[in-house]
Amino acid sequence: MTIDYLALGEELDGDEYLICEYTVKSDLDIVTAGKRIAEEESTGTWTRPTTLSEDIFKKYGAKVTKAEGNRVEIGYPVIDFSGEIGEIPQILSIVAGNLFGLDSLEGVRLVDIHFPQDIIDRYPGPQFGIEGLRDILDRPDKPLIGTIVKPKIGLPPKEFADYVYQAGRGGLTNSKDDETLVDQDFCPLQDRVSHVSESLDRLEEEGHKMIHAHNISTSGHRMLEAADLALENGARQLMVDVLTVGFAGVQALAEDPSIKVPIHVHRAMHAAITKNPEHGISMPVIGKLVRLAGGDALHIGTYGIGKMHAEVSEEIYSREVITEDMKGLDPMMPVASGGLHPGMIDKLMEKSGPDVQIQAGGGVSGHPEGVSSGAAALRQAVDAAYKGIDLREYAKDHQELRKALEKWM
Ligand code: 3PG
Repeated sequence: MTIDYLALGEELDGDEYLICEYTVKSDLDIVTAGKRIAEEESTGTWTRPTTLSEDIFKKYGAKVTKAEGNRVEIGYPVIDFSGEIGEIPQILSIVAGNLFGLDSLEGVRLVDIHFPQDIIDRYPGPQFGIEGLRDILDRPDKPLIGTIVKPKIGLPPKEFADYVYQAGRGGLTNSKDDETLVDQDFCPLQDRVSHVSESLDRLEEEGHKMIHAHNISTSGHRMLEAADLALENGARQLMVDVLTVGFAGVQALAEDPSIKVPIHVHRAMHAAITKNPEHGISMPVIGKLVRLAGGDALHIGTYGIGKMHAEVSEEIYSREVITEDMKGLDPMMPVASGGLHPGMIDKLMEKSGPDVQIQAGGGVSGHPEGVSSGAAALRQAVDAAYKGIDLREYAKDHQELRKALEKWM
């Protein structure tokens, strides 16, 4: 038997193999490059180990099934991921591990991943997702509209909570901590949560439903403690920075039975992994992993409309993989955030559709008349785009929107 990891043309059973698609940049021909990945990540190494029997290779060896252009498809036998403890960290160590550092490969990008049902069934996935968030907010059809409290850091808890209240008065359904705020001395988590909860209670008494996502990103052994602290003080939603904390952190929150609130997932640091088109991991792969781990809402970008770099087709695919069928997992709410303001909402919604949480930090707090008017302007822009009315036309009798367009357009 030849131990060469090649099975070109073989159609693998998607329930027996975890199938990955990679692009490769290398002086090696694509077949050899694919073999290098398959051997490194399953039963091989740079030379054939004398301990590698044909039997082990047959059972656990990965297979290169396609190698064309700069693209390879590799199937990893599902048994390589068996056992109760490994979970997402182990999946990543296999499909996205040593291969990125192989000297013979100048660049490798994990562009897509397809999980067998057996792996999906080990994860509960989103506990709230699109439908759960819509139910909590009593908002069955329209986009959720949010803000990120700005400045990112510096406001003390009371002023922070006042920002949230003003945003709610302006009609927003969501707000959140920024990714850089956790428990700093000037705005400790406990005080912040309790003041924000008072703001949300007050809004609810006034007839407006709103939730705020509190950032509890911290080290693994402290995160559940931070979640408890936030929940004891009235948190209605938690937030975690998935790439600084890790997918396992999202999963720990999603699977904790005492956490009965949605988990908002920020992707700070993702561009270090996703931005180079010839190397790293694509955002859709990160999206699938967050869905598996149980995130309820995930930042996926603004389709090139806001301030962040975007590969538009990849962002559209990110939206699809987190909202469309994934072997029984509930859909996650796509979050569009980063440099948005009311004047961009019509273009954004052409790409996002109505199942989206639209967020603006500067685009609310930078409004000439302050947060409440900024929130109203954002809401008016969403209402106009949802109804298919031209923003400038709508702004004629919506003065907050008019002022926002005057400032930013
Ligand atoms: C985010 O969390 O997405 C950013 O802080 C967005 O802030 P901005 O709307 O001011 O760009």
